[in-house]
Amino acid sequence: MNIAVIGSQWGDEGKGKLIDILSQDKDLTVRYQGGNNAGHTVVVGDKEYIFHLLPSAILHKGKVCVIANGVVIDPKALIKEMEDLKKQRIVIAPRKLKISGRCHVVMPYHRILDGLRESKRKNKIGTTGRGIGPCYADKVARCGVRMVDLLNPRILKSKLEDNLREKNEIFRKVYGKRGFPFKAMYSEYLAYGKKLRPYVCDTALFINEAIDQKKSILFEGAQGTFLDIDFGTYPFVTSSNSTVGGICSGSGVAPTKIDKTIACVKAYTTRVGEGPFPTEFSNTLMNEIRKKGNEFGATTGRPRRCGWFDSVLVRYSVIINGVAELAIMKLDVLDELPKIKICIGYKYKGKTFKEFPMDFEVLSNAKPVYEEVDGWMTPTSHVGGYKNLPKNARKYIERLEQLLKVGVKYISMGPKRDEIIFR
Ligand code: GDP
Ligand code: IMO
Ligand code: MG
Repeated sequence: MNIAVIGSQWGDEGKGKLIDILSQDKDLTVRYQGGNNAGHTVVVGDKEYIFHLLPSAILHKGKVCVIANGVVIDPKALIKEMEDLKKQRIVIAPRKLKISGRCHVVMPYHRILDGLRESKRKNKIGTTGRGIGPCYADKVARCGVRMVDLLNPRILKSKLEDNLREKNEIFRKVYGKRGFPFKAMYSEYLAYGKKLRPYVCDTALFINEAIDQKKSILFEGAQGTFLDIDFGTYPFVTSSNSTVGGICSGSGVAPTKIDKTIACVKAYTTRVGEGPFPTEFSNTLMNEIRKKGNEFGATTGRPRRCGWFDSVLVRYSVIINGVAELAIMKLDVLDELPKIKICIGYKYKGKTFKEFPMDFEVLSNAKPVYEEVDGWMTPTSHVGGYKNLPKNARKYIERLEQLLKVGVKYISMGPKRDEIIFR
């Protein structure tokens, strides 16, 4: 069975942990969008790994990981990630990692432009500063550099000459900055190509051949539904389709080959960066939950904004991703709260919204309508099975199921591999 794990809030739902667990039963794990703006945490014993470009199944022996065409790759960051693992005696052989030649490459000018564009905006997005937006913009503008170009000196030369001519002019005339010299960048990126060449192939063919051989695939979503370029809280979003549709264009796999979508959500809500967040906590709870949940960005270390679970938001994600099962992560973070709120609607100018609004003004000013439930005030990390969860924790989960109209299959109550319930 081929399954997809999709973040169903604003990212950082705990996808890394879930994917590490679910990929044990899969042959291939495929990243299909985003880049090293992602930070997916996998905890093994007392070791913590944070993956930015490598799929979260990379630690499993005998499993194949794929970085498919929809991902944007910063080769310097990817090589560093591989070398950091090598220092821990985890060597990634070319038979274990396949990289699409069609992946677009994050270039130094993308990273710099990301910061410069932010500095010019009054309404900042709060990007990760990894050059993701400018790289996807160049892909659409048809001036991007692809992984396959790093393997062909003639193509790289001609693309880079064209691009630097334009970019350097923008740097100078718009931002008053010096441009980039061609030669250093050309040789640096050729060297990356040489290093990564053994991993590069046509991953669309590779994945489809695996499917024909009845191998099973796990599609690893990065970011989350409300950071999606089409369905997210635009413009406070990332630049790729982090919803399920991104799998088809981002990996070359047809929709008929995706058997099931699992929505990964936190038992509450977080968001890094700017943008509307209706259920955001005020100071006291913010500090308490941020501390308890260790809510600091896995990529940038920025403190994450925290808030109550928003069922209006997640229900929308369930609809557009065709979600079959839910995974509720970080339940343990709520263990000490006497009362817990769930957002069931929004109010704006006397009108009640039961569906997720499109209008930025509504979303930014809407007051959440809450339902309050009793907390369980008991540690949950080591309870074992679902029946052993405190009664109020089960009631909370079952209420979320009712509101979201989909069943909860996985409940995570700690960062470790065994702190999870399969229901
Ligand atoms: P991702 O981007 O969706 O993979 O999530 P991140 O790795 O950015 O953030 C999730 C954080 O929560 C990581 O530090 C995980 O180790 C941690 N985590 C995952 N599941 C649980 C859980 O059930 N309980 C607790 N307390 N932490 C968790
Ligand atoms: P994972 O995969 C949380 C956010 C940034 C910013 C916006 C745009 O770990 O869940 P970008 O650098 O993509 O142009 O930034 O998107 N963002 C994430 N937030 N988790 C992520 O990834 C994110 N990737 C991007 O904070 O608000
Ligand atoms: Mg993350």
